[in-house]
Amino acid sequence: MARAGRDLAAVVLAAGEGKRFKSSLPKVLHEVCGRPMLAGVLDAVGALRPTQTVVVVGRGAEQVRASVQGLYKHPLAFALQKQQLGTADAAQVGDDELGKFAGDVLVTPGDTPLLTATALRAVVAHHRKTGAAATVLSADLDDPTGYGRIVRDERGDVRAIVEHRDATPFERAIGEINSGVYVFDRAALRSALTKVGRANSQGEYYLPDVIAVLVEKGEKVSAIAAARPEEILGVNSRAQLAEVAVLVRARINRKLMDEGVTIVDPAQTYIDATVKVGRDTVIHPLTFLEGSTTVGAGCEIGPGARVRDSRIEAGARVIFSVLDGARVGPDASVGPYAYLRPGAKLARGSKVGTFVEVKGSTIGVGSKVPHLSYVGDATIGADVNVGAATVTVNYDSETKIKSRTIIGDGAKIGSDTMLIAPVKIGRRAVTGAGSVVTRDVPAETVVVGNPARPLRKRKPTERENSH
Ligand code: UD1
Ligand code: CA
Repeated sequence: MARAGRDLAAVVLAAGEGKRFKSSLPKVLHEVCGRPMLAGVLDAVGALRPTQTVVVVGRGAEQVRASVQGLYKHPLAFALQKQQLGTADAAQVGDDELGKFAGDVLVTPGDTPLLTATALRAVVAHHRKTGAAATVLSADLDDPTGYGRIVRDERGDVRAIVEHRDATPFERAIGEINSGVYVFDRAALRSALTKVGRANSQGEYYLPDVIAVLVEKGEKVSAIAAARPEEILGVNSRAQLAEVAVLVRARINRKLMDEGVTIVDPAQTYIDATVKVGRDTVIHPLTFLEGSTTVGAGCEIGPGARVRDSRIEAGARVIFSVLDGARVGPDASVGPYAYLRPGAKLARGSKVGTFVEVKGSTIGVGSKVPHLSYVGDATIGADVNVGAATVTVNYDSETKIKSRTIIGDGAKIGSDTMLIAPVKIGRRAVTGAGSVVTRDVPAETVVVGNPARPLRKRKPTERENSH
């Protein structure tokens, strides 16, 4: 009796204690490549467009709710499991939220971030084709340690699921495990849940026990093995979190390479799922691209870059540097050993070089800050050269006020200049090496000394003379 065309609801179990994680953060919020594990599960579930989706929350309920609410594009409800009495109790709590729903209920764990929509669709399709009351997504794992085992009879029919802790040595030898993903006929699930007891090693209500209850009642139960067993891996410990992150990272890198990005050593390249990278960009090892970062086409990033929530435009280069909330214009160059902090904006073809820190500042088209400088709260025009060891002295420790430095187009700031803000350097003005600029400098004027005083007008450059 096939059940095509029935409605689908989803229940995601995310209330667990996460004891083995030893964390003050709820387990399902621990991140894999920049996203909470639970978000990965919700992506897969959401792709099936369930008519209703319920996330069962308990441990850190508010935090979980706040973190995932905005990530889901379909109707989402939360159900509170007050006490973590086990997965059957959690499923019961989730099911109660479904009201009068009649149809199939997809149940997934919240700690299996590699789950894909393809795997979920396969279980739902199998369930509907066979007309079973319950269908389990199973997987054949080389190391089934820790998972529930699928117990089949001599005819190969599923009889029960036995938890690792409660399994006999014989059952532990079974390699087919329970992924924790199931599709149930809702009515069958509801009646079976009332029969689940807690006579097991943990004294918990186990959702997998529903399978034996249904078999006992003569209902049809079926299991389908995941086409890619690694997709069902559950994360119960920090070691498993790291293992899963390796796989997610590989997926992300693989996709980028397929889209035309060169990743020199994918095993040493750490890119969040949220990051976008353009074609023909080359990413060298030990590069971290995080958060809402976007990188344009034809860039060269790394080796050694940590880039967070930043935008890097086409043809730019970033080597051994840290960027956070920065914008790097086309063909600009950053590093080695630069630190771009929030509000750093580098225009086209500009350069921020070795041991330079930039914060809340704009560096104009073609301007250069090549060495050992601090540029904070400054607006630097086009074609400016900022000499080595220049500092924008933006903070007055007595008034605790931060002020801006403004440098006009074509100015030349001599090495070791202190620009005591607020201060304005005019167009094509020049400061001598070691000058301490406390007053505004008019255009075309050379100033020197401490405090800096006008010396003469700037001479035209040789190139300007020849025009
Ligand atoms: C569970 C299954 C096991 C399966 C494995 C797959 C049970 C008893 N065992 O084991 O057969 O092989 O998943 O990964 O179900 N949760 C709640 N409320 C609770 C308890 C758990 O919401 O009271 C949630 C957790 O947050 C988690 C999920 O249910 O997301 C699974 O719980 P977990 O404790 O991780 O179960 P496992 O021991 O991994
Ligand atoms: Ca688990």
